[in-house]
Amino acid sequence: MREEILSVRDLHVHYPVRKAGLFGRGTVARAVNGVSFEVMKGETLGLVGESGCGKTTLGRAILRLVPSSKGGKILFRGRDITDLDNRRFRPLRKEMQMIFQDPFGSLNPRLTVGQMLGEALRVHGIVRGGEATEKRVRDLLDTVGLNREYANRYPHEFSGGQRQRVGIARALAVNPAFIICDEPVSALDVSIQSQIINLLKDLQREFGLTYLFIAHDLSVVEYISDRVAVMYLGKIVEIADGETLYANPKHPYTQALLSAIPLPELGRKKERIVLKGDLPGPLSIPEGCSFHPRCPFAMPECRERSPGLAPLADDPRHLVSCLLYQ
Ligand SMILES: Nc1ncnc2c1ncn2[C@@H]1O[C@H](COP(=O)(O)OP(=O)(O)O)[C@@H](O)[C@H]1O
Ligand code: SF4
Ligand SMILES: [Mg+2]
Repeated sequence: MREEILSVRDLHVHYPVRKAGLFGRGTVARAVNGVSFEVMKGETLGLVGESGCGKTTLGRAILRLVPSSKGGKILFRGRDITDLDNRRFRPLRKEMQMIFQDPFGSLNPRLTVGQMLGEALRVHGIVRGGEATEKRVRDLLDTVGLNREYANRYPHEFSGGQRQRVGIARALAVNPAFIICDEPVSALDVSIQSQIINLLKDLQREFGLTYLFIAHDLSVVEYISDRVAVMYLGKIVEIADGETLYANPKHPYTQALLSAIPLPELGRKKERIVLKGDLPGPLSIPEGCSFHPRCPFAMPECRERSPGLAPLADDPRHLVSCLLYQ
């Protein structure tokens, strides 16, 4: 049995929103709406769901970049970090990094890659002195497959794939144990996507990293994930070992998502399930099972009862949130 590195219990993230109009009352967008899961040391958990379902918010809440509501819990290495003060959280924060879709979105375009990596090393006190920093920067560039000379280049001088390598180097700079990869290949060409995914796999092996790998498409995470979680309107609706989930999806939403991607190697029949209606927003989450207005199998009770995420009778590692199985 593998050791647990992260455990998330009943996490909620609500964004306050003001409704339109002069006297519009305040309300909340339930971006993350009761999420529980754990990640084992050394594994990759894929997290998949349509745009807007709360994946980024969940990732940011785990790193405490957005506050979560009272009652939820985040445990990292068995330690409750939900309400840890900043002084105690800082050393743990180093162990948890995030890689973004656009690695340079939040960075200073006037810093060279060497200066940027050096800054990250300095802030976290990883190395001391100019020479040691330069050496560490060179090593980091080697590690992610970039020419050492690139330390003197600016972000705009890189291609998309190279930029993502720099983003990965930046995350690795502080020797993390756990990395949230938030759609790191979504903006890249398909050929470049597999290079980056292979790099992440190699780094995982080399440094014993644990990943939460976010994507909006089940096909992207298939190759890299040990387990996969599917998210819909702020909740995880299904979670299972990758092989199980792709071969034997149980939740009607997962079945619909999978039917949209061709996976000939699994010999799956490709009858496309087209969901009715539009994806509701986090301001208007339907009562009962939140998927019921779009579900091809909805029963009358699905309007009233909200199914919890529960293990299947014949596979305790396969959890589904659907009344068909409860
Ligand atoms: N700062 C914010 N304020 C209000 N609503 C937000 C904010 N950030 C995200 N949201 C809303 O929360 C929901 C989830 O967003 P996000 O976590 O970015 O989803 P995903 O990463 O799955 O696309 C979306 O409906 C989004 O509009
Ligand atoms: S609980 Fe009902 S509406 Fe929800 S996914 Fe299952 S069958 Fe569909
Ligand atoms: Mg996102």
